Amino acid sequence: MSEGTVRARAVVDTGAVARNCRLLKERAGEAELCAVVKANGYGHGAAPCAAAALRGGATRLAVAAAEEAAELRLHFPDVPLFVMGALTEEELGTALAADADVAVWREGFRELCSRLAADRGGPVPVHLKLDSGMGRLGERDPDALLDLARSCAADPHVEIAGVWTHFATADEPDDPFLAEQLAAFRPVADAVRELAPGCTVHAANSAATLRETCAHFDMVRCGIAIYGLDPFQRDPSEHGLEPALELHSYVADVKRFEPGASAGYGRTWRAPNETWVGVLPIGYGDGVRRGLSNNAEVLVGGRRHPVVGTVSMDNITIDLGSETGVEPGAPAVLIGRQGAGRILAEELAARLETINYEVTCGISQRVPREFEE
Ligand SMILES: Cc1ncc(COP(=O)(O)O)c(C=O)c1O
Repeated sequence: MSEGTVRARAVVDTGAVARNCRLLKERAGEAELCAVVKANGYGHGAAPCAAAALRGGATRLAVAAAEEAAELRLHFPDVPLFVMGALTEEELGTALAADADVAVWREGFRELCSRLAADRGGPVPVHLKLDSGMGRLGERDPDALLDLARSCAADPHVEIAGVWTHFATADEPDDPFLAEQLAAFRPVADAVRELAPGCTVHAANSAATLRETCAHFDMVRCGIAIYGLDPFQRDPSEHGLEPALELHSYVADVKRFEPGASAGYGRTWRAPNETWVGVLPIGYGDGVRRGLSNNAEVLVGGRRHPVVGTVSMDNITIDLGSETGVEPGAPAVLIGRQGAGRILAEELAARLETINYEVTCGISQRVPREFEE
């Protein structure tokens, strides 16, 4: 076993993040690129990925939570930050202390911003959010949002920095709903722009950025694609995206199994013939979901080997076959490349009937992130 081998590690290529951002920036044309680095950069590491995104042409960073903005501010004193999520009064205080822009869609929250502005010595930059069909955060009624826009415009303690919305089906290319959302958003954006000519109009996530030029407006908010993951759950290379994250482990032990011998809890797999089984010290405690029991492959020696038996908290077992040259200490790749082999997060997502977002966000804190360029 090589010195310094760790049981599980996520290797993140920040150069890939920068290149993905360059590509997205090109697709976005004149629009600014805001890199979405919430949830620890979709599990990739927020600050190193944010730095790479800025190198790749992003000019702003977006997060969901005030604490995430506070953390980023320590690393990036001058970069514009935007907190997209709902905030309690305390969280609003944290966001404003981090000098972040915030989302607003209710009069009560505008009043709160106005009140807290007194402590910061300048107006609070707010982005008016229209719920154009996502059915989540935002004001559904365009007239009510415009009333709020007027009250913001009349409030010296609040500055309209943006008007925005979020798409529900941008990742479904044949779905007509994005066009409906755009049709609802456009007149509201135009009206807000009349009240606040310098404000930033934004709507597109990664899928809309890649799919729909007329959704770009002044700024695109890209998350998943900056990490080289495909918003359409296909092969990211179809869009020229490079996956940034690899999930590595190693073969801690190799043992001979007689026919009928079982591996793991519940004995869900029994060796059909004589074979060799490799034990890898990575499991659901690291984010390798239990749904991958008897339902995934791992690269060892540049070849795919099936996961056999139940994924446990700290270990998985793989079938190395009846004749194997694999020795304890051999490197193993659960996501990423090894030799000619490649396993995408999208493949694991399909096996788990989920999306790539959940696969990388689910890699637990126990797994150290290593950054390479
Ligand atoms: C409001 C908002 N905008 C933008 C994004 C980025 O989306 P994506 O990761 O699909 O690019 C997200 C992510 O979920 C979001 O919640």
